[in-house]
Order: sequence, then structure tokens, then C-alpha cells
Amino acid sequence: MKTLKIKYLSHKVEVFLENGLISRLGDYLKEDVRYFIITDLNVAHLYLDSVTKQLKKYDLYLLSSGENSKNYAEVENIINRMLEANIQKYDFILSLGGGVVGDIAGFVAAIYKRGIRFVSIPTTLMAQVDSSLGGKCGIDFTANHQNYKNQIGTVYHPEAIFVDPMILKTLPKAEYLSGMAEVVKYGLCFSKKLFEQLSGTFDLEEVIFQCLSLKAKITEKDEFDENLRMILNYGHTVGHGLESFSQFSLSHGQAVAIGMLWETRQLEIKTRLRELYQKLGINAAFDFSMKDLTDFITQDKKMESKNIRIPVLKAIGLIEMETKPLDAFLREIS
Ligand SMILES: NC(=O)c1ccc[n+]([C@@H]2O[C@H](COP(=O)([O-])OP(=O)(O)OC[C@H]3O[C@@H](n4cnc5c(N)ncnc54)[C@H](O)[C@@H]3O)[C@@H](O)[C@H]2O)c1
Repeated sequence: MKTLKIKYLSHKVEVFLENGLISRLGDYLKEDVRYFIITDLNVAHLYLDSVTKQLKKYDLYLLSSGENSKNYAEVENIINRMLEANIQKYDFILSLGGGVVGDIAGFVAAIYKRGIRFVSIPTTLMAQVDSSLGGKCGIDFTANHQNYKNQIGTVYHPEAIFVDPMILKTLPKAEYLSGMAEVVKYGLCFSKKLFEQLSGTFDLEEVIFQCLSLKAKITEKDEFDENLRMILNYGHTVGHGLESFSQFSLSHGQAVAIGMLWETRQLEIKTRLRELYQKLGINAAFDFSMKDLTDFITQDKKMESKNIRIPVLKAIGLIEMETKPLDAFLREIS
């Protein structure tokens, strides 16, 4: 069993990672509490029984699968259901799913009765390497007929994260590749060794642990996204714009993969990135112009007046934050 113990200012988080962990959750979950499970239809079909048979008391909310569920209306529906089920402050939310389920479950956990405890079982590669850790839980919001990504949210942590890489065996290939794009980000931005490992054969459990360890180190130093943590957003300025522009037909990972290519200035690194995408099977082709994204980028949370704060890649494994005028940034990447 690989474990991490992270001490945030607000909470302590424990990560448990092992193949087959989903069938041994009973050893770790608390026996005498009630769990309010939030999951989606696909995941419920595959894994709900293995989880619920290890719980004494639970209630359930099922989301439709996909990004369209990550909205305020669903937050209200979940809270209605929790009130009907008489979920109390001392009960737990259990998030079982990918990044969509994790984000909405975390947001509800943060606001229900001003915050209740929760645990997370991430079931996609994206969630196992990235979204389940760090406490960010944002939901999308529609205004002026546009759906803006992660416009409402907070930072709120699960007490425990149970990562079982075997669960990924049922993941559709496109979803696996979406998560792989975030894995590439961890190598590209923070670890040349990981970036190079990905070009050969690698042990997925080990790679997931490396990504989580990197994210733990960064987020522990900047829990509330005030500075250092923003370096995790490489590729996301263009990526989030693309997700919204494509009306979420692009997955988060694919959008980030394209974003990283556009945000990388050095030709040599761009070429190595393209080669790695090709080796892994990540498709970074999508027809758009930077003009299409300007509106989404200006709505992004990285804006400070007319300036944008963005991570800039200096070399493979080395990234720094910079502030520059939005116009200059758009010109540079166009
Ligand atoms: N909070 C953060 O720090 C953070 C970081 C990165 C991404 N995100 C968010 O995460 C979301 C994307 O998450 P995602 O990529 O996990 O997508 P997702 O949650 O939509 O899951 C993708 C699909 O895979 C299915 N699925 C999940 N687990 C499965 C399994 N084991 N077997 C078979 N099918 C399975 C789901 O039902 C869904 O259809 C986006 O909304 C993004 O903004 C958040």
C-alpha cells in the first residue's frame, strides 16, 4: 500500500493507493457512520455494489454521466435529497466517480450545513492523478447563453482518498487518454524523469503515485491558490477556453493537451511533446482560432485587470509564474 499524509492549513488528507483497494474499503471506512454516496450512472453500474456491500448505512444520489451534470441545478437537487434523507453534520459524503462527480460532491460537502466530512474514491485516471487531490471543487455556470467552466467553487478537502488503479480497466480509452494528458503535464512541468519515463514502458500505479506526490507537495505549500499552486494550470488557460468553446465536446484532458502545445513556446519542447502525444495516442488536433477563445479567456479566474497570470514553461520539468498583459499573451500563443 502506498500512502501520503498531507497537512493543509484547514484539513489533513490521507491518500491510500493500491491495486484492488475497492474491495477492501471496509478496512478503512468508519463502521458507525452513514455515507451519502454521490456517483454517476456509468460508475454506479460498475462499482456501486462493491462499495455498498462494505457499508452499514448509506444513501445515494445518482448523477447523469458527464460534464453537463456539473452545474448549480444539480447542486440544488443533491442538497434537496440530502435534506430528505436527513443527512446530519456528522454524516459523510462519499464521492465515487471521476472529476465531475468529485468536483460536485466536494462543492456540496463544502456548503451543506457549512461543511460536512467527505471521502473520495476517484474512478478515472484524471481523478486519480489530479482532481481528487488539492480540494478544488468548482462547478460550471451558464450566463448570457454561454457555459463558463468552474465559475463557482471553493477549496475543500476529503479526509481520505482511496485510489485503486485496477478500477481504470473499465475506463473507455478516450477517458484514459484524457487523464494521460494530465500525467504528461506533471512530467512536462515538474519532473523530467517522469516525462522521459512516459516515452518508454511504465508502471501505472507508480506513475499515479508520482503525480499525486507532486501535486501534494505543491498544494500543501499553497492550499488556497494564492501563488505557487497556479503552476498546476499549465495548458489550462487555453484548455478551459477550448472546453467551453467546444461546448464540452472536447474532454478536459484533450483540451489541456492542446492547451499545453499552444502555450509551449520552445520549438524543441513542442516537438518532444507532439512525439509523446503520438506515442501515447493523445489526439491534439482541433480546429479553432485564438480569437474564438478570447471571451472565455477573459472570463477566466487568472485575470488581474488587463493582465493575466500564467505559468510559463522554462524547460522540461521547470515552470514559473509570470504576469503579462492579456494582449501580449494572446499574440504570443496565436
Ligand atoms: N478539481 C480539480 O482540481 C480538477 C482537476 C482536473 C479536472 N477537474 C474536472 O474534472 C472533470 C473531468 O473529470 P474526468 O475526466 O474524470 O471525467 P468524468 O468525471 O466526466 O468521467 C468520464 C467518464 O468516464 C466514466 N467513468 C468514470 N469512471 C469510470 C470507470 N472506472 N470505468 C468506466 N467508466 C468510468 C464516467 O461515467 C464518465 O462518463 C472536469 O469537470 C474538470 O474540470 C477538476
